[in-house]
Amino acid sequence: KGCKLVGCGSAVPTLQISNDDLSKIVDTNDEWISVRTGIRRRRVLSGGDNLTTLAVQAARKALDMAKVDPEDLDLILMCTSTPEDLFGSAPQIQKQLGCKTNPLSYDITAACSGFVLGLISAACHIRGGGFNNVLVIGADALSRYVDWTDRGTCILFGDAAGAILVQACNSEEDGLFGFDLHSDGSGQRHLNAAIKEKESNNALDSNGSVLGFPPKQSSYSCIQMNGKEVFRFAVRCVPQSIESALEKAGLPASSIDWLLLHQANQRIIDAVATRLELPSERVISNLANYGNTSAASIPLALDEAVRSGKVKAGQTIATAGFGAGLTWGSAILRW
Ligand code: ACO
Repeated sequence: KGCKLVGCGSAVPTLQISNDDLSKIVDTNDEWISVRTGIRRRRVLSGGDNLTTLAVQAARKALDMAKVDPEDLDLILMCTSTPEDLFGSAPQIQKQLGCKTNPLSYDITAACSGFVLGLISAACHIRGGGFNNVLVIGADALSRYVDWTDRGTCILFGDAAGAILVQACNSEEDGLFGFDLHSDGSGQRHLNAAIKEKESNNALDSNGSVLGFPPKQSSYSCIQMNGKEVFRFAVRCVPQSIESALEKAGLPASSIDWLLLHQANQRIIDAVATRLELPSERVISNLANYGNTSAASIPLALDEAVRSGKVKAGQTIATAGFGAGLTWGSAILRW
């Protein structure tokens, strides 16, 4: 059984924060941020915005493009590390889309690799599980976990949502040619937003002995990152992963029409393109406008590229996600 990409959509919050705006709250400037990262501005949730609403907006656009009714969805995968409910936000998206048939919906947590993982999971569900219409959403609001006094991280991230509808098809129409997925927990120290250690509590039993429970409520720390190590990891692992996916697909790098990487840093994107010997005209990049939107970055950039006419039907896309975990992976797709 094949699977093809039949629709895409995206949504971003209205509040835009420029590099100059950031220079008012931390010791930084537009030139430093632009030169080191390629980022000029980012969108951030504010006021009454929430991530679930953005995800639903992106999902509706993808369904409209594919001309698929929400009732015909078999599965919704919400790739996010910042859900509005610790237990998962996909069922809320299913409800807000109005899927009366109660399709399965669940969250996938893999930081900036989440969307690529979601895409491959969709293909596995279609090929092995009898699912026909799978909606893959990548959405994150890392702004909620950024330390806005840390100039090393607060300049990088933005909030957004993107969605792609993956549909079962015959093998001739198959649009997923090869993939490659990895993780390495030993690299967690380089990038994390780990749970804060619980404070000891003093609950006592009737004899005055410390009970050790109930535990205090926990929360997550802000994003901690060693930028140089993450940079090194990305430029080493991403080209290897794409080369491995190409090998599995039986395709040469020259067959790639578009390189669409997780949008983290323009210098990472350029280094990977150079390693694969792909000219800049074949590289999709929109991080100047949105920064690093984590699991949303790939479907957001794809949606813009498709709607602007840049990416055309039948073209081959090499995509790769990388980030916290550490996790990384790539897929060779046909739009
Ligand atoms: N403005 C001005 N100066 C700054 C800023 C800033 N915003 N941030 C850091 N600096 C200073 C540092 O203090 C340092 O000063 P010093 O030399 O006096 O000590 C100097 O600039 C150089 O800092 P570095 O951290 O060494 O800068 P680097 O060139 O490594 O760039 C960056 C930092 C942009 C973060 C880069 O390392 C990077 O992009 N790494 C990859 C990060 C990434 O992609 N993370 C997301 C992964 S996806 C996910 O899963 C969330």
